[in-house]
Formats: sequence, structure tokens, C-alpha cells
Amino acid sequence: MSSDGIYIRQYRPSDLPQIRDLLFEGFATSEGSIVDAGRRRAPFMRTSILAYLLGAAGLFLFSQSERRMSVATGVAALLCIAGIALFVAARREISHFVQQICEDALASDMRDITAHYCAPGGTFLVAARPYACDKGKMYGDAQPEGEAILGYVGLEYLPEKNPETADVRRMIISAKYRRQGLATQLMRVIIAHSKTLPRLRYLTVGTSDLQPAARRLYQGLGWELTSTEPIGNWLATRMYWSFRRPVDIPTQTYAAVGLPESE
Ligand SMILES: CC(C)(COP(=O)(O)OP(=O)(O)OC[C@H]1O[C@@H](n2cnc3c(N)ncnc32)[C@H](O)[C@@H]1OP(=O)(O)O)[C@@H](O)C(=O)NCCC(=O)NCCS
Repeated sequence: MSSDGIYIRQYRPSDLPQIRDLLFEGFATSEGSIVDAGRRRAPFMRTSILAYLLGAAGLFLFSQSERRMSVATGVAALLCIAGIALFVAARREISHFVQQICEDALASDMRDITAHYCAPGGTFLVAARPYACDKGKMYGDAQPEGEAILGYVGLEYLPEKNPETADVRRMIISAKYRRQGLATQLMRVIIAHSKTLPRLRYLTVGTSDLQPAARRLYQGLGWELTSTEPIGNWLATRMYWSFRRPVDIPTQTYAAVGLPESE
């Protein structure tokens, strides 16, 4: 346990409600989430540029037409409306896409976390902090019992399918607790755990171009980008990045990324 009461432990089924909330917070609603990054970049997407062109063409046509009620002004109005509709649809698409990722996660691997992740080899870790640590600060007399879940990560290992590779999934830290080294701590425990699996050689993880913090985190811990591929539909195409890391990185490589040799 750290001085501020935070510790890392295995997932328990009673954590599930907070895990669900944090999934939506991390991916969809917090500052720095995928949706937040998507909204910031939406004005520069290809579809947005097409929307600007349609709007500009509409305005140009309108400025050139001599009569208010003519075919040209009708076409100009349609072009402007199409431009605005395209811009709005592209922005909404990112949010819809991420919402769908969260729903799919809850219906698949996160439906029964113990069964999916904690089968032989895999694990699901949470960073927790007892509410008691906040005594007198936040809750006064009505202080709730139990712990706040501040973040989590899963290691999906399916040796019957692929004994050499395990996938790191669902890494999320609550927005209030980011940049305090929590994700690094979780990842170090995952890496230490993976070293106990005799047949495992590589860890993989996937992220996107809308998660620059995750990319830096993984690269800082010795992960290498192995492939990129487009995801999403034509309205809001993004890039999916796949990373891989040998379970045992030679000492030299640690020195190169400036990390301590022991994990
Ligand atoms: C990505 C995420 C898990 C990082 O968690 P965290 O606890 O803040 O990460 P750490 O404090 O351990 O940071 C480790 C390193 O990652 C990088 N990093 C983390 N957050 C960053 C940010 N906002 N901007 C740039 N780099 C960042 C830095 O290199 C950092 O090292 P430094 O603090 O010494 O510079 C967190 O931002 C998050 O939950 N994001 C939303 C969900 C998400 O995208 N998850 C990834 C799923 S693939």
C-alpha cells in the first residue's frame, strides 16, 4: 500500500459496478478519453474538410445567384445543409463508436471478468483506495464503507489458442488519479505476473490514435508498434495501433528506455 492508501489487488465480483462506470469514464466521458480526443480532432478530419468544402461551395453559389428563389439558391442551400449535416454526423460517429466499444466489452470479456480473465494464467488487477483514507475530508459523518476503484487492467491469456502471447486489455485510470504512475504500477505487476507463465513469450496491446497517453505509456515500458490499421466507418476513420513487448526484455533495452532493471 502506498502512503496515500492506494494498493493493487486482484479483481473481486463486488468491484463490477465501479469497473463499469470507470469504463465509460475512461473511454467516453472524461477529459483525455477517446471521445474527448475525437471531438478535439474532429474539425481536422477528412470528412470535416469535405463538409467545409460543401458549405463553401454552397455559400459561393448563393453569392453568385441573382434571384433569391432560383434553382441555384436551392442547390446552394442544399450544399450548406449537407456540409453541416456531415460535420455533425462525423462528430457523433466517434462518440457512437466508443459507446459501442464499451457496450461490446460489457457484453463480452467484461460480462464475467473472473471467468474470462482469471482462468489459469490470466489476471485482472484493480488499483483501489479505501474510502476510510478520506475520513473527515470528503464525506463527513456519512462516509461510505469499502473502496474506490481508481483504475484497472486485465491480462487475457488463452494458452489453448496461443500459449506464446497474452493480450493486455482494458487499461483505465480514473481521470482524477492520472499522471501519478498508477498505470505504470499496474503494468509492472502485469509484466511481473507474465514472467511466471513458462510458455508465454510476448505481451500485446491495442490502442488508437485517439489515445496518445496510452501510446506513450506503452512505449515507455518497452512496447513496440507492430502494425496500424484503419478502424471505424468512412464518416470517422481512425487508426488502430498494435503493440508488442517480449516478456523478457534484455537489461540493455531497459537502460535504453530509462527504466529500472527490476520490475
Ligand atoms: C492511458 C492511461 C491509462 C495512463 O494512466 P496514468 O496512470 O495517467 O499513467 P502514468 O501516470 O503511469 O504515466 C506513465 C507515462 O505515460 C505517459 N502519459 C500518461 N498520461 C499522459 C498524457 N496525458 N499525456 C502524455 N503522456 C502521458 C507519460 O509518458 C507517463 O510518464 P511520465 O508521467 O513520467 O511522463 C490514462 O490516461 C487513461 O486511463 N486514459 C483513458 C483510457 C485509455 O485510453 N486507456 C488505454 C487503453 S489502450
